[in-house]
Amino acid sequence: MAADTAHNIGPVILLGPPGAGKGTQSRRIVERYGVPQVSTGDLLRENVRQGTPLGIQVKDVMARGELVPDELMYDMVAERLRRTDCERGYVLDGFPRTSAQAAWLDAFLQREFFEKLQRGKCLPIVIRIGVDYNGLLRRITGRRSCPVCGRIYNVYSQPPRVADTCDVEGSKLVTRDDDREEVIRERLAAYELQTKPVVEYYAHKGRLHCVDGDASVEQVTKQIWRLLEGERSGE
Ligand code: AP5
Repeated sequence: MAADTAHNIGPVILLGPPGAGKGTQSRRIVERYGVPQVSTGDLLRENVRQGTPLGIQVKDVMARGELVPDELMYDMVAERLRRTDCERGYVLDGFPRTSAQAAWLDAFLQREFFEKLQRGKCLPIVIRIGVDYNGLLRRITGRRSCPVCGRIYNVYSQPPRVADTCDVEGSKLVTRDDDREEVIRERLAAYELQTKPVVEYYAHKGRLHCVDGDASVEQVTKQIWRLLEGERSGE
């Protein structure tokens, strides 16, 4: 299916705990609207893989399931959002994750995209994917992904056609290093303590939308598309 590039969806922020489906839904938004996914988790993992100075600094923090310090995030995110492929919009997956990051993002968008903001084109649509915590551990421990194309599978709910093999690339699926039970508990604790206030930050500003993340992947996608097309129509 060709991407619908007629919709300038602008910035979209997906919020939700680990395993809520942010990555899964980001990919679907990318395919439908032809905008990039900006996943701070993926960007950080790539830095770790390449052994960059940033990667060396964050490797142990990520392995423990803690959040990377705010000040290490900003240059990386700013550099990514300034690229030309973000002009029609982008999906922020995993950022902002603290109230300080949310305030930084607002200031950054004001500063760098003031004209667009005036025309209402640049204000992020913030979507919280709400899920029941009881199912998250199973979702995350069941996750497998393709190291080549990044497709996300789940051994319980979305298995590949052939066990451990990407349907598209034929490559062997991998499990993320931080998807071990003891690390997942730490990641969930970090969400509760540091990221939940971000939900409140956007709710206070009247910019928060919620979808039911316990529905099937297809149903969650439909809720998100409805929101995006409703919100940006008339701009
Ligand atoms: P990051 O990579 O962002 O991980 P996360 O937020 O923990 O989120 P996940 O990728 O685990 O979950 P997801 O919501 O994307 O779920 P998915 O779609 O894969 O961050 C990793 C680390 O990087 C952090 O711990 C931190 O150290 C660091 N970091 C990143 N950003 C940072 C920031 N801004 N500041 C500081 N540090 C930062 O789905 C999960 C599984 O469920 C899959 O198997 C999928 O198939 C399945 N699934 C999805 N939807 C459904 C559904 N509706 N029904 C059934 N199954 C489903």
